[in-house]
Amino acid sequence: MSSVAELRPVTSVPRVPGAVPLLGHALALWRDPLGFLSSLRQHGDLVRVHLGTMPMVVVTTPDLVHEVTVRQAHSFEKGRFFDRLRPLAGNGLANADGELHKKHRRMIQPMFSRERIAGYSDVMSANAQALADSWAPGDVIDLEPAMAGYAVETLASTLFSTDIGLPAVDAVRRNLPVLLANLLIRAASPKALDRLPIPANRRFDQAAASLRAVIDEVVATSRAAGPTDHDDLLALLLAAQDAESGTRLSDVQVRDELATILFAGAETTAATLAWTFHELVSRPDVEDALVAEIREVVGDGPVTAQHVPALQGIRRVIDEVIRLHGVTLLMRRTTEPVTLGGVELPTGTEVAFSLYALHRDPGLYDRAHLFDPDRWLPERQAQGPGRRAYIPFGAGNRKCIGDLFVWTEATIAIATILRQWRLVPVPGHSPREIASAVAHADRIPMTVVARQ
Ligand code: HEM
Repeated sequence: MSSVAELRPVTSVPRVPGAVPLLGHALALWRDPLGFLSSLRQHGDLVRVHLGTMPMVVVTTPDLVHEVTVRQAHSFEKGRFFDRLRPLAGNGLANADGELHKKHRRMIQPMFSRERIAGYSDVMSANAQALADSWAPGDVIDLEPAMAGYAVETLASTLFSTDIGLPAVDAVRRNLPVLLANLLIRAASPKALDRLPIPANRRFDQAAASLRAVIDEVVATSRAAGPTDHDDLLALLLAAQDAESGTRLSDVQVRDELATILFAGAETTAATLAWTFHELVSRPDVEDALVAEIREVVGDGPVTAQHVPALQGIRRVIDEVIRLHGVTLLMRRTTEPVTLGGVELPTGTEVAFSLYALHRDPGLYDRAHLFDPDRWLPERQAQGPGRRAYIPFGAGNRKCIGDLFVWTEATIAIATILRQWRLVPVPGHSPREIASAVAHADRIPMTVVARQ
């Protein structure tokens, strides 16, 4: 343990070059968020960045991220990034801190148990088959919106009562992309910029209001209908009662939890699925092996939760896709003085880390920019950088609640689509990464070809 004398003040942490007056590093982040975040490691394990006038400490190594998310998690709250999401998702699970977070996490967790997810898998499978059957040979599909449709419909039909949730799906599909396109920039920018009457702000505010209104209506209709035999997240939230006070969740609290699940669960899943088909194009050998695996494990019937653990090739592909195109930026704020990497961070310090940058660190991953699902074979994993260096779903008490859900949902979709179709890129377009909650693609147009 380091003695107090060895501790360095936060002002000793190297400041990243390139800051400009008033905006700090905000311009660099706006221009090329993923490049900027990935460049930070070259300045140190801990570096200082200014977003506008707000200073922020960025952590660039797996061990220090582990300190923040696991070992010293009790000394952190979620911080500025999540404060800026409050207008959209209120104090839903991803934003809540302390006791409120603990209570809601305990309440919602049963909806994501292994048994529950096995129960959702029939709907996941039917939705995936409906998507695959909606295509015909020669169709050109833009993969992200197609996969976003699958992701939102699957969330609505498994978690929000099929009949009531589905009318909301259209509105969500319309509004979510507008919100996501501005999410990272908005979360990382000075708050004063939100009030500028520019089209980007207007579009964002309109989409946020419209999404809130749609979810409010779902909640109000369900509340008015009274108890049902639906056994889903919406019913659970409406019935939930505080053990001590006996009070129910308010409609606003229920809306915030639903909005959180939609934000956290739709784009992440859609981007992962869309990138999967893009990345497979560069590895026809891997695609052929997946198709053989699907035929052997599943045959011609529906893909179910029972098949998922045996589809190990798909697992490696998903792991590799999330490594390459994962969560861009996460933040925390110290709630008491914290010692991190020999530096003393005062209470209220904003701390950030990028899973995207961590997972592409060439010091941790051999040929880090290459899509190579075989790096997840057990024998190669043993030589790899270890568990702390790969945390696609985060770690500690704030770890993703939906990891098994998406794992099952994505495996079922990939197996169902690959068995039926080959997706061939439309010539002349190379997808570009866009930073939002995850690194998603601008467009991935593909032509549908029947698989022999
Ligand atoms: C490939 C897909 C996904 C990825 C990469 C992903 C990643 C993450 C990460 C890294 C966190 C931790 C955030 C932090 O530490 O601040 C997180 C939290 C969360 N995720 Fe996911 N996620 C995915 C899919 C989903 C799905 C499908 C759902 C819901 C159905 C979901 C719901 C949540 C929620 C509610 C939280 C907040 C948990 C808490 O604070 O207790 N995610 N996710």
